Amino acid sequence: MSPALKAALTSVAAETDSLLSALLPDAAAMAEDGVLAEAMRYAALGPGKRFRPFLTVAAALACNGDRVRALHVGAAVECLHAYSLVHDDLPAMDDDDLRRGRPTVHKAYDEATAILAGDALQAQAFQILALPATHPDASIRLALTAGLAKAAGVLGMCGGQALDLAAGAEARGMGWIVRMQRQKTGALIAFSTEAGAILAHGDRSARAALYGYGLDIGLAFQIADDLLDIEGDEAAVGKKLTKDADQGKGTLPAAMGAAAARNYAEALVDQAVAKLDRFGPSANLLRDAALYALQRQN
Ligand code: IPE
Ligand code: IPE
Ligand code: MG
Ligand code: MG
Ligand code: MG
Repeated sequence: MSPALKAALTSVAAETDSLLSALLPDAAAMAEDGVLAEAMRYAALGPGKRFRPFLTVAAALACNGDRVRALHVGAAVECLHAYSLVHDDLPAMDDDDLRRGRPTVHKAYDEATAILAGDALQAQAFQILALPATHPDASIRLALTAGLAKAAGVLGMCGGQALDLAAGAEARGMGWIVRMQRQKTGALIAFSTEAGAILAHGDRSARAALYGYGLDIGLAFQIADDLLDIEGDEAAVGKKLTKDADQGKGTLPAAMGAAAARNYAEALVDQAVAKLDRFGPSANLLRDAALYALQRQN
């Protein structure tokens, strides 16, 4: 990882956590449903990478957008992402006990609390987008709301998760797996980068370039996740590994072999970087991030 990327990731993660800590409900201040608030904080503030907030900040930087507004959008996306992980780990879905090196939310609390914490984190995401601090112009807040809703919904993450869980996914071809992964992982990452242009009143082509970049690195990011499941270091990844094959998941490493999947992901990284040509040096963090999406060890 380049030193510039490392420094930027670290600082966006710290800024995101302090913003989320201020915006999430305070369990101690709540009368009766403090446990739910506590579970939301456990899910959203656990030791994750905060890669999506970083992407929003970096994309806003490339478009001359405001950092504090980008951090708000990043915090919203992170709530949505944290919700997706809490539900993904439930027994009805991937049935995982370990996430980010700690018990999953339904293990640390219980299943009902995990379902509700996920639901409430999704609502919290849209609440953050509605804040004037996210953008003073309500039409921009509306565009962000529509973008996040689409990325999260049936054409995005939820639809992708449904396909991921469908019977026979492991027997599907490459095209089907690519479509499923673009939905379940690519859509939210593409919104994270497109949001940088939306925030900065970017024109249609800036939005399209950043969306396309995000979709490409989002797919590379999921291929990296699938490769880590096969050949990663469990302590570094913080999740139980080698589960995808046991659960019959449709992944590109399973469909085409690990080496070919890595080559394909490398081509996606190059394709993503090419989409940044119009931006010049202000997009250098995004260029470094494309490589990181694939080369990361956790
Ligand atoms: C995990 O996402 C789920 C995938 C889409 C692969 P991350 O790898 O971003 O998880 P955290 O937030 O860093 O824990
Ligand atoms: C999850 O993909 C993608 C989501 C939208 C949550 P995985 O099921 O492979 O993610 P991990 O490996 O549990 O983090
Ligand atoms: Mg899953
Ligand atoms: Mg999972
Ligand atoms: Mg995985």
